[in-house]
Amino acid sequence: MAIHVVLNQKGGVGKSTIAVNLAAVTADVLNDDDPEASSPVAAVSVDPQGSAVWWAARMKDLPFHVVQAHDDLEGLAGIKNLPGIKHVYIDTPGWIDLSAGEDGDDPLGRGPSADALRAVLDVADQIIVPIETEPLSFDPTARTINKVIRPRGIPYLVVINNWDPRDGHGDLRETQEFVKANGWPLAKTVIRHYKLHARASADGQVVTEYPLNRVALQAREDFYRFALELNIGGGR
Ligand SMILES: Nc1ncnc2c1ncn2[C@@H]1O[C@H](COP(=O)(O)OP(=O)(O)OP(=O)(O)O)[C@@H](O)[C@H]1O
Ligand SMILES: [Mg+2]
Repeated sequence: MAIHVVLNQKGGVGKSTIAVNLAAVTADVLNDDDPEASSPVAAVSVDPQGSAVWWAARMKDLPFHVVQAHDDLEGLAGIKNLPGIKHVYIDTPGWIDLSAGEDGDDPLGRGPSADALRAVLDVADQIIVPIETEPLSFDPTARTINKVIRPRGIPYLVVINNWDPRDGHGDLRETQEFVKANGWPLAKTVIRHYKLHARASADGQVVTEYPLNRVALQAREDFYRFALELNIGGGR
């Protein structure tokens, strides 16, 4: 059983997109052929806005479990012991205030949102940190890693999301160099920008349900590649 938390202080970097689509590709590989069998994959949201749940509510057949748990500290503490579950993907809030802690306090501060976040960080096996190829996302990413992740010693991996190849390789290289200069582990997989992804949440679609045309296959390939890189999918 592995708990993957998708985290970045910065809003809109693709946390929900990555949490839900990783759950989808993992379920695609690990679900039993018997449609009645319970999926070993869960997507959990501790975002009070619950966009992952809003998204999943629009799906016709849900190939994995979806749980809204921002106000369920007890449930979050027990997440390690969910029977039959192999992979949990946790979507975290859109924007995290890290202004607390200048005086040595926990930078996550106080309040129900901070408590839920602490609860999932307590059980996290790995943190996935999405970053975009725009300098605006660099500082919040650095704060997330330096203030929240590194002090806890949780393994983490930065992944570049939403890069549009039509914009050229300049921004991509700059982002890769920024990550490396900071000594952060960086995923080789780059999740490219596709219009399909942007529409998918409103349409209640995950990558495994995209049409089988060339562009859609490229769009979903990034999530299978990333899952492969995370070493997900082995060992039923
Ligand atoms: N690779 C991508 N290609 C195209 N659109 C993307 C991609 N990744 C994310 N998006 C879009 O960007 C927007 C923000 O993504 P998402 O909601 O996943 O980010 P988030 O970090 O969860 O945001 P929030 O901080 O608000 O919770 C959404 O409209 C989403 O569909
Ligand atoms: Mg989100």
